[in-house]
Amino acid sequence: MSKAVILGTGSCLPKRVVTNADLEQIVETTDEWITSRTGIRSRHIAGADEQNYQLATKAGRRALAVTGIDTQELDLIIVATLSSHMIMPSTACFVQAELGAENAFAYDINAACAGFTYGLDLANNYIQNRPDMKVLLIGAETLSARVNWQDRNTCVLFGDGAGAVVLSGSNDGRGVIGSRLHSDGSLWHLLCMDSPESLNPELRHDGYVGPHIRMNGGEIFKHAVRMMEDAVNTLLRKNGLSIADVDIMIPHQANIRILGNLRDRLGIAEEKVFVNVSKYGNTSAASIPIALDEAHRQGRLHRGDLVLLCTFGGGLTWGSLLLRW
Ligand code: ACO
Repeated sequence: MSKAVILGTGSCLPKRVVTNADLEQIVETTDEWITSRTGIRSRHIAGADEQNYQLATKAGRRALAVTGIDTQELDLIIVATLSSHMIMPSTACFVQAELGAENAFAYDINAACAGFTYGLDLANNYIQNRPDMKVLLIGAETLSARVNWQDRNTCVLFGDGAGAVVLSGSNDGRGVIGSRLHSDGSLWHLLCMDSPESLNPELRHDGYVGPHIRMNGGEIFKHAVRMMEDAVNTLLRKNGLSIADVDIMIPHQANIRILGNLRDRLGIAEEKVFVNVSKYGNTSAASIPIALDEAHRQGRLHRGDLVLLCTFGGGLTWGSLLLRW
């Protein structure tokens, strides 16, 4: 059976870099606190002409350039995001227009930080049914527009950016092997963001504080480690594989301490875990495709490598995905 293979990767980070020292001027914090608690040293923050769809389009163009596939050949564009500049139309429709990809249908998905991994699973399902399909999958975020810049508990954690992959079918043994995706909506309140306030007074709800990220950091930390560990171990076991078979793990880049705990519990060697959170912070749905692109460009991904993705985000949403590069 055909599987979705990644033919090319691309990414785009906003020009402006904001360091922890810069944040010391905005909220009561220190470089030492942020670095020791999160591993984050800087993040990119979007400015003029760097809307979510513009970052997404650039990342998409870069991924397409690697493959030589023309925008006219695209059949589908999926953007995973929770920070589009408009609720309607979708960011994917803006990307489609920017690319002139007139033969592609386009829509967004929102599974918070897990959006890219959910999207990869979705694209694989399309491609298994229609192996010649060419899919552009993008994770893109401008979370700087969705954090409370007075709240030091959250504003230091996030960054902006976009990453993209181009996918099509292959039956040469490469591609997506399997995935393990989960959600638990009963824990929504641990990490959430309101929509703009309802214009219908009867639909306003208690506890509305504004359309920005709210988080219970301690609880998220505990759930993230335990749930990703479980999703990885179950997926490996179901595929008759062990953690020693994995050549490279590309996890969601939220926090260095979450990744350290996860690494210890999985028993995977440090050099097999790709980490770039120190430069970009948590870019939510963009974090895995940015890391994939960086790993690819650094020559860390070789044909035939077993690549493990794992992710966790608001919802709660989490999961793991295995692919043969
Ligand atoms: N600078 C200085 N002090 C701060 C800051 C800051 N930026 N933020 C919080 N503090 C203070 C708190 O107010 C608290 O002070 P208090 O004791 O006087 O009340 C103190 O630091 C300690 O707070 P803790 O919550 O105990 O700090 P902790 O060591 O747990 O670290 C953190 C907090 C980094 C948020 C941690 O809980 C964490 O990493 N959680 C995971 C959250 C995460 O990564 N979320 C991303 C989204 S989810 C995802 O993508 C997986």
